[in-house]
Amino acid sequence: MKTQVGIIGSGPSGLLLARLLHLQGIDTVILESRSREYVLGRVRAGVIEQGMADMLRQAKVGARMDREGLIHEGINIAFDNRLERVDFPKHTNGKVVMVYGQTEITYDLMNAHIDEAGGIVHYESPAIRVEDYDTERPRIIYQQNGKESELVCDFVAGCDGFHGVARKSIPAEKIATFSRAYPFGWLGILSDVPPVKEELIYANHERGFALCSMRSQTRSRYYIQCEVNDKVENWTDDAFWDELCRRLPSEEAANVIRGPRLEMGITPLHSFVAEPMRFGRLFLAGDAAHIVPPTGAKGLNLASSDIYYLSRALLAYYKQKRTDLLDRYSETALRRVWKAIRFSWWYTNLLHKFDNEPMSRRLQTSELDYLTGSEAGQAVIAENYVGLPYEKFE
Ligand code: APR
Ligand code: PHB
Repeated sequence: MKTQVGIIGSGPSGLLLARLLHLQGIDTVILESRSREYVLGRVRAGVIEQGMADMLRQAKVGARMDREGLIHEGINIAFDNRLERVDFPKHTNGKVVMVYGQTEITYDLMNAHIDEAGGIVHYESPAIRVEDYDTERPRIIYQQNGKESELVCDFVAGCDGFHGVARKSIPAEKIATFSRAYPFGWLGILSDVPPVKEELIYANHERGFALCSMRSQTRSRYYIQCEVNDKVENWTDDAFWDELCRRLPSEEAANVIRGPRLEMGITPLHSFVAEPMRFGRLFLAGDAAHIVPPTGAKGLNLASSDIYYLSRALLAYYKQKRTDLLDRYSETALRRVWKAIRFSWWYTNLLHKFDNEPMSRRLQTSELDYLTGSEAGQAVIAENYVGLPYEKFE
């Protein structure tokens, strides 16, 4: 099998890249280890920056998002039984975010790319390794129906998430990795109940962090900080709701509407970056190259900015025979990645319980008091949360 751009992984990164290239007449084949149903069944993030919303519109998959997504003009930060709001448009020249689930984005991309445009995605076809990435004919070795085959490409995009094989195909001495594990996880619930408040609440509490998010006016997503090795089996729905309410200001806790779980899961928290993001004709994008803790809602949005840079670089190559954007891909993408890594780390530190020391807590609540009471402090949060700008190219 042959194609122009071989893509490993059909998460948001792989699908968005395939869709953008297809609209410009460039052929792709996606190899995905899981089934289509499995990919759609994963419950993932839900906050989209304006840059990503614009990318989805450009990919002609923004119509349902624009109809059903919720525009959010701010977030709430809770601490010391107080609730403080950070206004986005006021501090960012009018920017906002969109609340629309990653699952919905994946669904819209599959629909447009596979069902309507006839784009090729091979499900249940795991890539095993990438070969000859430093030649003009890189190949993806993959498995299908128990048989080994190869996909010969001009370029390979490794969009196969943190556990994928693209990054692992590179010899260890050619890649630098930076990583940090946090000593806690997030226990999350999805439930068909109206959200406690129209905008998200990020809560710092002496018992640990809590987050009130949503997927729609009738579907809520809540998280509480938990032990790193905690198990979902340890939690009943009631125990979850009780603990969530203990960590919110009393006025908000009184408004929480409880319901049975549609899903409950535990997410570990990590920061991870692989450098560079390009090896000859193999390009890494999204979770394959970097992971952020979910506190700043940056994971999905970083996948989008990587694909912005990569799709433009590949288009410049195919349409204008330019290679300079491909050469600059890693450096350009990483500049934005590191800023989001930094913000997610800082925001995680500000809001979570790391130890039992009273000094740690007082420092956090005093920083929260300072930030929310200062226009400059609010601007720092707002500017990062709505997303730093994508670099433009001529
Ligand atoms: N061969 C083929 N596909 C693979 C392989 C492999 N060896 N290994 C992993 N995959 C697939 C996974 O099954 C998954 O569908 O690659 C896909 C990677 O998708 P994601 O993990 O969703 O990563 P990405 O597309 O970069 O999306 C960005 O941002 O919100 C965060 O982590 C969240 O998924 C989100 C990510
Ligand atoms: C979510 O809705 O799943 C969500 C929202 C904001 C975050 C993380 C997760 O920071």
